Amino acid sequence: MSKKIDIFDTTLRDGEQVPGNQLNTEEKVILAKALENLGVDIIEAGFPVSSPGDFNSVVEISKIVKDVTVCALSRAIKKDIDVAGDALKYCKRGRIHTGIGTSHLHLTTKLKISQEEAIRRGSEAVAYAKRYVEDVEFYAEDAGRTDNVFLAQIIEAVIAAGATVVNIPDTTGYCLPEEYGAKIKFLMENVKNIHKATISTHCHNDLGLATANSIMGVQMGAGQIECTIAGIGERAGNTALEEIVMIMESRKDLPFSTNIDTTKLFPTSELTKELMGLTIQPNKAIVGANAFAHSSGIHQDGVLKNRENYEIIDPLSVGVSESSIILTARSGRAALKFRLSKMGYELETASLDKSYLEFLTLADELKVVNDNDLEMMMKGVKAAS
Ligand code: KIV
Ligand code: ZN
Repeated sequence: MSKKIDIFDTTLRDGEQVPGNQLNTEEKVILAKALENLGVDIIEAGFPVSSPGDFNSVVEISKIVKDVTVCALSRAIKKDIDVAGDALKYCKRGRIHTGIGTSHLHLTTKLKISQEEAIRRGSEAVAYAKRYVEDVEFYAEDAGRTDNVFLAQIIEAVIAAGATVVNIPDTTGYCLPEEYGAKIKFLMENVKNIHKATISTHCHNDLGLATANSIMGVQMGAGQIECTIAGIGERAGNTALEEIVMIMESRKDLPFSTNIDTTKLFPTSELTKELMGLTIQPNKAIVGANAFAHSSGIHQDGVLKNRENYEIIDPLSVGVSESSIILTARSGRAALKFRLSKMGYELETASLDKSYLEFLTLADELKVVNDNDLEMMMKGVKAAS
């Protein structure tokens, strides 16, 4: 039996904190609908007190989505919670996400309060948010660098105050997977009322460990993962939604599942990229332009014989129409023959050998050889350099 993990998408809140790529309300609504179709369980739609635009986006998204919980962020401040509650008023299923910094660094240099005061403010904020919604999530900001004993105390207090979900953010992406996993395990074993709430992971990618940490978190008992499309977000970004989902799909030995329609992963990433005006690194797992592209001779030959030789994911399963064979100077005869045959040229061994030599000269010059270049080569026309 696999455990269903809730996917909490924060593309529209933490993801949208990518500098210079903000979305307007109309764009946010388009993306929220796509996220609902993708099958996420919760959409964090914004931080309503931060600006009238963000407030409005949460209102409009609440009116439009039906099958998904809409979440609004707030600090542990009454005014923030009032504004978040107001923004969620049209919502079918609303959640307020409130919290406070808990690490020694945050308490002493940012908030300048004691641990006791943080517990008091956190618990009061949760209890206050309950007047607007039943579903209240508490975040312990910088939990990744928070002492586990204190973290357990504040988590126990906010659950007693009514928190339904407790978020353990590795805000600075500092934790190693074993460390983050041990933190979740510690909470599972030391917070008396932990069975009354769901533990959520929220990992940042400053050291490239966000996905590994999130997976460790669910292996140790977390029931929700917070993530963004293509891992976008401030600095090095957040846990990438598509990575989490495809780990659970590809590794059947892991006892986890999600409600995500994987065939919508690539189209949703393309939509996000387009709306936000982002470039996604070509080698990005699952949704990057090269995620299913093969350019070296040995790999191309292997893939043409059996795709699974060099691919663990069927591109169709994530909405990519097919694997691509990129012709470069590292490509072999098998790939050239395959491409030429798709273009209608069936070559015998001798003529293939001759064309292959011509192709290599062309590829050294052009780096990537496309169908047009090949057509000209076959017609004996010299390609423009
Ligand atoms: O990274 C973080 O700590 C956050 C919280 C506001 C949830 O984004
Ligand atoms: Zn974050």
